[in-house]
Amino acid sequence: MLPPFPHTPAPYTGPSKADLLARRKAVLNQGIFLLYKDPFMPVEGKMQYLFDETGRRYLDCFGGICTVSVGHCHPEVTAALVAQAGLIQHAPTCYLHPTVVEYAETLASTFPDPLNRVYFVNSGSEANDLAVLMARLHTGNHDILSLRNCYHGGNAVGMSLTSHHTWKFPIPTMPGFQHLKAPHPVWGPIPYDAPEAGKQYAEEVLDIIKFGTSGKVAAFIAEPMQGVGGTVPYPPDYLTHAYAHTRNAGGVCIADEVQTGFGRTGTNFWGFQNYGVIPDIVVMAKSIGNGFPLAAVVTTDAIAEKMASRIHFNTFGGDPLAMAQGKATLDIMLRDNTMAHCKTIGDHLIAGLEKLQAEFPIIGSVRGSGLILGVEFVLDGQPASAFTTAFFERCKDHQLIVGKGGLHGSVIRIKPPMCMTLADANFLLAVFDTVLSELT
Ligand SMILES: Cc1ncc(COP(=O)(O)O)c(C=O)c1O
Repeated sequence: MLPPFPHTPAPYTGPSKADLLARRKAVLNQGIFLLYKDPFMPVEGKMQYLFDETGRRYLDCFGGICTVSVGHCHPEVTAALVAQAGLIQHAPTCYLHPTVVEYAETLASTFPDPLNRVYFVNSGSEANDLAVLMARLHTGNHDILSLRNCYHGGNAVGMSLTSHHTWKFPIPTMPGFQHLKAPHPVWGPIPYDAPEAGKQYAEEVLDIIKFGTSGKVAAFIAEPMQGVGGTVPYPPDYLTHAYAHTRNAGGVCIADEVQTGFGRTGTNFWGFQNYGVIPDIVVMAKSIGNGFPLAAVVTTDAIAEKMASRIHFNTFGGDPLAMAQGKATLDIMLRDNTMAHCKTIGDHLIAGLEKLQAEFPIIGSVRGSGLILGVEFVLDGQPASAFTTAFFERCKDHQLIVGKGGLHGSVIRIKPPMCMTLADANFLLAVFDTVLSELT
């Protein structure tokens, strides 16, 4: 049973699901897929819960893919947004406004030196586009190295960075993007507990620099834990070696923290800190805005100086509405220490999931940390993709919303709003237990 929650959703009076589905098919982009055989229609969200059109409540363990951070319609975030909407909704950054400065100061204070310059944009894809521009401008080099099984966005640069062909349209891709064989704890050639696993995986960086580039590169980019790729962390020293090889070839290092940032991993505010490295450019989106289209790039003075050689402008980057929502979200995270909460709940979930793993051998891997976790299903040494789809569907029947991902669609992804409670975690574990018993 879902833990009690004192909220009664407003009666839904809009069009029926069937009507909407037909109209959506006629008017919207056909490429936007719908999850679930019986499409899910959440019409209200409160903190860690979603309510569908019938008023049924669900525990949201996907958070719009790491996007809802402090909670759906968190009252303080909503109040900040509404207050700002009544004052001034748009003022470009070529005028002065206090919130963008105050917010940038707080955001910059969460980074180690020398990361201190903040650029606001509107989406993760756009932030990665800017990061690539910065890297090329700063280094004078062109080649960008990214990892296979990554996801960095849906614009031209995002698709070029993203290695997986199902995310690319059949048009010529942009030149200057190289995709490296990436570490993987289940499917990778080197087990993570092998001595020097990180060093060995990072030799691929050297290989690509040697055989795929002029010997000089602009950047290496990686998510500190692959998100869409199925919650894939790396061996502890992988990034240390990969960053060193990149810098030796004249490049800078970019951390895409779109899913891992803002304390979600529970141990550090930024995912790169879990590996003891400091990138030159950090990209963030999703959790930053608690559901508002907001993203940012943080970099060093040296890189920012090069960016000052031309006009750089973004109509909505630093917009008062986005800044009000982002600032309120970050203030809550820092005041309430949501990072520590992610660790407490995450540790409890991992312990429970590992117990289930001992009981149900189809669970091949439990991984991640804090509130970015993955459970990979493996059957006869192969990815159990069909099982994962069935599991994903049954969770919804039991009022639990999770994500699905990984190269083979065999990973259940758990990325809830960070306000998820211990009682919610126990509910998730009970649903997993029930569904595993039903399906195995
Ligand atoms: C790691 C990562 N980078 C970039 C993006 C692209 O962000 P957006 O969809 O806001 O453009 C995503 C989106 O899922 C992501 O997971």
